[in-house]
Amino acid sequence: MQETAAAAFVARRNKLAEHLGGQPALLAAGRPRARNYAANRYPFRAESHFLYLVGQPLAGAALLVDGGRSVLFLERPADDDALWHGEVESPEAIRAATGVDEVRWLDALAGAIAGKAIATLPPQEDQTAAFLGEVLGRAVAPRSGARLEGADARLADAMVALRLHHDPAALAEMRDAAAITERAHRAGARALRPGVKEAAVKAAIEAEMTAVEGTPAYGSIVTTHGEVLHAEHAHRTVQEGDLLLVDAGTENRAGWASDVTRVYPASRRFSATQRAIYDLVLAANRKGIEMVRPGVRYRDIHLAAARVMLEGLVHLGVFRGAVDGLIERGAGAVFFPHGVGHLLGLDVHDMEDLGDRAGYAPGRARSKRFGDAYLRLDRDLAPGMCVTIEPGFYQVPAILGGEVAAPFANDLDNGRLEAFRDVRGIRLEDDVLCTDGAPEVLTRAIPIAADDVVHFMS
Ligand code: GLY
Ligand code: MN
Repeated sequence: MQETAAAAFVARRNKLAEHLGGQPALLAAGRPRARNYAANRYPFRAESHFLYLVGQPLAGAALLVDGGRSVLFLERPADDDALWHGEVESPEAIRAATGVDEVRWLDALAGAIAGKAIATLPPQEDQTAAFLGEVLGRAVAPRSGARLEGADARLADAMVALRLHHDPAALAEMRDAAAITERAHRAGARALRPGVKEAAVKAAIEAEMTAVEGTPAYGSIVTTHGEVLHAEHAHRTVQEGDLLLVDAGTENRAGWASDVTRVYPASRRFSATQRAIYDLVLAANRKGIEMVRPGVRYRDIHLAAARVMLEGLVHLGVFRGAVDGLIERGAGAVFFPHGVGHLLGLDVHDMEDLGDRAGYAPGRARSKRFGDAYLRLDRDLAPGMCVTIEPGFYQVPAILGGEVAAPFANDLDNGRLEAFRDVRGIRLEDDVLCTDGAPEVLTRAIPIAADDVVHFMS
């Protein structure tokens, strides 16, 4: 694991204080949620804004940034904590690791902020919202998309300004997450053969993450039904000739994410039709990656990838007619109904807890058109931004038999499409860092060219 030095957290908190210009802010770590009794808990994952500034998942803690001073408030350990959980780290050790000015117990928080107007951000779950509401003496709404006003909105904008451009410490963590993900995909690819359960491949993938104290950064998608964009089940038995779509990325021990999709042929060879579509999605992936450069508007990458897909589908005879006209009428969404990617950082969809505040530049808003409406990012890229590039091709029955495809009845050659029925869904996803020059593909160690993928499997 990467060990981020305390100096990195000090620098981030100083930057935050600069952005806030004297406005104090309180950021909660959150608490583990209980299952059927208090001591039986779901795995704890700290709030990302807290992790960004503190680096440790200190359940129940809160960070106060007040001018140039940072104070970390910790839950006072219970008398029997040492019995059940072992020795906890001392406040002094936590102070040294995080570089905060002071560590205090949480029961001193109310007194420390009495009479001050404090900014905060919406946490992900109710009990932390209730805790913040109580100490701040005002309602704090939980969960993503909560409307932010005044100082809270300024704090959100400050966090976006910081987290949008990754510092060297963040990039080291993201490279670490990508390296674990390479091992995870390799293990999954090698476990794949006709007759195994999708779940067995998923287990092989996640074992590599678990072995280094990582976790899946999101529910791993391991499915022979790649047309189901976020397939949650892995109950099927893989058949001869199937394509297995694996969208699995590690969250490393420090909480940083990777997000990678590859498609593996169960029989260790692609059919000609699978290969044709695979190469088309790969061309869109490469086009998108090549465009990850300073000043490029991310929406234009989405549109360029969609164009590559449509040109290819016309070339393959699935669509008839002129590409420009098809694009104008929204044909891109028939087989590629989602955005080409999103921000990546501590969260797989980084900062989506703040709604579109992170993903959309001021003055830009989501399209209302099906497909484009799922584009999660529309900013001009700048060095330090990390995005995913993940075009795809999917034969979704609900789309092909519904109102999205209906206007294209005369443009689609269903007979030709029938030839591609062994391609349910293909998505190829990499994590790409925008630099001053050429894009850096953080996930380049995971083979993506069709022949390399087959080689990777054996
Ligand atoms: N890998 C899941 C997603 O990007 O939505
Ligand atoms: Mn993704």
